[in-house]
Amino acid sequence: MEGRQWYKEMAVYHIWPRSFCDGNGDGIGDLWGVLQKLDYIKSLHVDAIWFSPLYPSPNADFGYDISDYMDIHPDYGTLEVFQQLLEEAHKRGLRVFMDLVVNHSSDEHPWFQESRKGPESPYYDYYYWRPGHVGLTGRRHPPNNWTSLFEGGAWEYDEQRDEYYLHLFARKQPDLNMDNPKVREEVKRIMRFWLDMGVDGFREDVITFISKAPGLPNAYPKLPAANGLRHYSNRPAAYEYLKEFKRDVLDHYDCFTVGESPMTTPEIALRYVTEGPDQVLDEMIAFSHMEADCFLTDMVQRPFSLVKMKKAFSDWQNKLQGKAWNALYLENHDHARIISRYGSEEHHTESGKMLAAMYLLQRGTPFVYQGQEIGMLNLRLPSVDLYEDVMTKNGARIASRILPKSRVLKLIQQTSRDSARTPMQWTDGENAGFSTAKPWFFVNENYRQINVQAQEADPDSLLNFYRKLLKFRKEQPLVLYGTYREYRPKDKHFYTYERSYEGKKLLVICSFSAEALRWDAPEEIDLNQGTLVFSNYDMNFVIANGFTTRPYELRVYLFA
Ligand code: NOJ
Repeated sequence: MEGRQWYKEMAVYHIWPRSFCDGNGDGIGDLWGVLQKLDYIKSLHVDAIWFSPLYPSPNADFGYDISDYMDIHPDYGTLEVFQQLLEEAHKRGLRVFMDLVVNHSSDEHPWFQESRKGPESPYYDYYYWRPGHVGLTGRRHPPNNWTSLFEGGAWEYDEQRDEYYLHLFARKQPDLNMDNPKVREEVKRIMRFWLDMGVDGFREDVITFISKAPGLPNAYPKLPAANGLRHYSNRPAAYEYLKEFKRDVLDHYDCFTVGESPMTTPEIALRYVTEGPDQVLDEMIAFSHMEADCFLTDMVQRPFSLVKMKKAFSDWQNKLQGKAWNALYLENHDHARIISRYGSEEHHTESGKMLAAMYLLQRGTPFVYQGQEIGMLNLRLPSVDLYEDVMTKNGARIASRILPKSRVLKLIQQTSRDSARTPMQWTDGENAGFSTAKPWFFVNENYRQINVQAQEADPDSLLNFYRKLLKFRKEQPLVLYGTYREYRPKDKHFYTYERSYEGKKLLVICSFSAEALRWDAPEEIDLNQGTLVFSNYDMNFVIANGFTTRPYELRVYLFA
């Protein structure tokens, strides 16, 4: 089979460690907890785990602010426990990927602490330090007009060094200066450290931001948010640095890389992921399909548009076809829960199944986020102050300038990343079986209905549906390698697409509506010739080459 690779055939389970499972009874998820759940993970028919950051961190951005790249956060365990976990995972045929967060470190990382000291420090140029300007009135101004994605302006003045440093995210996340060859050597050292230990690859955090335009110019016209983006996103040097990492490190291991790249189009992604000698990443995490109910950021809401979502999926499917491999996902630690967004809480299991088949049967490597497989839903806390996430707090602060308090709360309830960060719902027992101690964060109150234990016992549960889909995908070259074709892209209620491979076809029909609607097969398809392989209701009649839908109905037909 052309271009066949292990990473194309795998499915990945994504763990946000703080909320997955607490093994040592302190209310915080950890590696001992993951060890207990390895058989569960394996039972999902996934082949790998991606860990959101496990490293020591002051947790300004829950692990995405790293203070030591070559150790494990004491909340999560030790290097020894991690090695044990790696061994146990490998024994079960599960690969392990780490999160590589090198666009920025924590301001508590020794490099940054040293860098503040001045020119004699070997770490002097590890970050973007600039003097800024002093105006006629004696007021100090930052070096340029860029804004951070998490907290106001992108520059913070540091008294000790008497200069500003750049932070594209929170103040406690200073950007590393990747133009400095010493910093790139550090990145390679980090990569080798984990790969030599047996780790199987990396998810690379905002990796297309690692190069900034020479001279750090002002951005015009000035945007209200993410001002400066074009001066730090997808610059040619980012590609060159990734090429260097590949040549010097990754090429020497059998490993996998997936880059995270906000606001990137398939055309841009192809520069990095087109298969061949110039490829620098195996896959790229797309964002456009997650913007069908918002504009650029989850916080700027608009009504869900199925047409927009389909366009985004098809755009990536079509443009990468035959050239590169997709990363498929609907949830991760950065987004609210998908049933609460694109599905229906009222039709929880049905819409959950429909959404699962909708993306798992596309061409690419699927990522399943913890709790997604049981259909965990958004958290709705009664006050904005109870939310923890730095981005949520920033969003609430900005929204408060223009919206009344009640609207801000509603917005946060709908969009906060904290909805994906509530403790995993294992049982209907105390603390949802996540911990014997008081959990570090709120457990969603629906845990009595939505939990792993209940769904294990029900052959028709969403959990078991995920298992069946993931197993089917792995066993069918048609799903793994078939071509993709969308029908009726402008239809506002149905997503219909087809996969084809060596004379076989799979037709995926998804209703995104609670209404009873008529779905008619495209002319060239005779539904009676197909075998129904997945559906989310019983009694799937076909009448006159079509059917009338039930809420969020899904049907998948195989034509062999
Ligand atoms: C992307 C990560 O997924 C997100 O959680 C984090 O806040 C930012 N990058 C900054 O590291």
